[in-house]
Amino acid sequence: MSDRQCFLNGEFMPLAEARIPVLDRGFIFGDGVYDVVPVYGKRLFCFDEHIARLNRSLAKLRLPEPASSAQWLARCRQLVAAEPADDQVVYIQVTRGVAPRDHVMPANPNPTVFIMSNPMVGASAAQRRDGVACVSSDDFRWARGDIKSTSLLGNVMARQLSADQGATETILFRDGHLTEASSSNVWLVRDGVLVGPPQSDHVLEGIRFGLLQTLCQHTGIGFERRPIAQSELRDADELLLSSATKEVLPVTRLDGALVGHGAAQGKPGPVYARLYQVYQQAKTTLSV
Ligand code: PDD
Repeated sequence: MSDRQCFLNGEFMPLAEARIPVLDRGFIFGDGVYDVVPVYGKRLFCFDEHIARLNRSLAKLRLPEPASSAQWLARCRQLVAAEPADDQVVYIQVTRGVAPRDHVMPANPNPTVFIMSNPMVGASAAQRRDGVACVSSDDFRWARGDIKSTSLLGNVMARQLSADQGATETILFRDGHLTEASSSNVWLVRDGVLVGPPQSDHVLEGIRFGLLQTLCQHTGIGFERRPIAQSELRDADELLLSSATKEVLPVTRLDGALVGHGAAQGKPGPVYARLYQVYQQAKTTLSV
């Protein structure tokens, strides 16, 4: 921990020595955005897609882009090289910077830019073999889940509901329809088709939306995005989570009930197994 490096406002420095002023709007208002890029074998996975999403989040908050894609890549690579682990998770954060406390956005912000890379802690072998448990909750977060904002109190409160029950995620429903989970997207499989919710202000457009669509095309698995009623999850053949760190992960118990049907009930299903397999192959081809 002590010799871990980070990047803060133009400089590489030990993480333990990095400091920001208390008037940073990221601290005062949670006024900032972030992104999380997985790293396999010291190479950044789907890097362009993550930076494009970071730039979309910045634009939605009227923040300027503080770096070019080439600059982000060079900085991330330097941090990844300094960290011994082969598989890592790069965390990038941009806030509106330091200003007197006022809700109005300052006209000429001086954004705070922070990057660190941590060893990847992925799903365990037992979770991949048995699947994970999730609980359901009303989606009580704000109505702009499409922005990858550092204001994550709603997500933190939602995640704790599952943590309290020893479960892996909290799956969220708004007006009776699936949105996402506290830090993952959610998919169901029905009759061999992978189904995710449509693009909306309530759902973060996970980088795995585009990736899973491509992987489904390559493997002949049907892919669909449409509104998903809460009752459909109880009747699904399979349920999956996806995120930068979970990749794709099977959900085999929801609110204490087994997911799926017949002999396959409560076990990871064939669509999960196939997608996980091709996801592993994509790591080599889609990393820079
Ligand atoms: N979370 N929805 C939410 C609310 C998320 O926080 C995340 C990712 C996702 C999945 O997006 P992606 O496939 O691009 O990782 C969906 C990251 C990993 C985090 O906050 O640590």
